[in-house]
Amino acid sequence: MPGVRGAVCGIAGTILILLIAISLHEEPAELPRMAKDLKTLQEDYRQLNKSCFILGASGETGKELLKQIVESQLFSKVTVIGRRKINFEDEAYKDVKQEVVDFEKLEEHSAAFQEHDVGFCCLGTTKAKSGEAGFIRVDHDYVLKSAQLAKAGGCQHFNLESSKGANKGSSFLYLRVKGEVEAEVEELGFDRFSIFRPAFLMCDREEYRPTEWMTRKMMTPMAYFFPTVLTVPITTLVKAMLNNAVLQSDKKVDLLENKAIHALGKMEEEKKC
Ligand SMILES: NC(=O)c1ccc[n+]([C@@H]2O[C@H](COP(=O)([O-])OP(=O)(O)OC[C@H]3O[C@@H](n4cnc5c(N)ncnc54)[C@H](OP(=O)(O)O)[C@@H]3O)[C@@H](O)[C@H]2O)c1
Repeated sequence: MPGVRGAVCGIAGTILILLIAISLHEEPAELPRMAKDLKTLQEDYRQLNKSCFILGASGETGKELLKQIVESQLFSKVTVIGRRKINFEDEAYKDVKQEVVDFEKLEEHSAAFQEHDVGFCCLGTTKAKSGEAGFIRVDHDYVLKSAQLAKAGGCQHFNLESSKGANKGSSFLYLRVKGEVEAEVEELGFDRFSIFRPAFLMCDREEYRPTEWMTRKMMTPMAYFFPTVLTVPITTLVKAMLNNAVLQSDKKVDLLENKAIHALGKMEEEKKC
């Protein structure tokens, strides 16, 4: 049917033009100037013997983060804080400490949040899975309470996995909640607060989420032609989180949009900037 074919081509063409426009419009990501190469920065960071905790280590981002932390040995102590125990079969994880907490009674678990220099929060759920109230509970209440306990426990650098488009003034619940929690955690006044705003996460998700599965299929060609616009591989996001940590910025708040995440995540170890 020529009419339908024409309409489909028209829509596809419009999407393509929009993507090119977004891609050209986005500011190029500026990486902080580095006095040393990444390998040296990582080595310097190791010498600081920092400890960290991860919230959401059983999820897709969290488990990749834990894997890269264990492999890189950037931290002298690693604790995962979650609602259930994770079974690690690999010997490499033998020193990872686990704290199982009841997120509805987090105050009773304040000890779990004590004495970590750095915190990574990859917690989250979806409205489809938990309903509207459940989504707010996890993505706002649990995140904020965890950040408060971490701050009280001495955490200096808090890293929050938020989302592209996060905006406390948004009329979309998801983006509004993400924006609100970013602003409220910022108010806690961590020495350093890094906010990551990734676009759609590309990974082979363990849990079957049909909508995300469909979206991922549709995004695959987009990711090929416009890699930094609408998607980010989880491995890149996690590398960006760790590279950002070792960069030791003197900025109190780092706001890393999707393009900056790509740039940070792909910093070559040998390359001097
Ligand atoms: N998916 C995307 O494309 C995308 C894009 C941009 C930003 N983000 C954001 O990035 C973050 C991480 O996403 P992800 O896909 O890596 O997460 P994920 O795989 O869904 O994992 C979420 C983590 O949060 C925990 N969690 C969920 N509900 C909980 C509850 N009621 N109580 C305690 N813990 C709970 C999960 O624990 P259990 O294993 O015990 O369930 C898991 O460790 C989220 O905030 C998400 O909104 C996602």
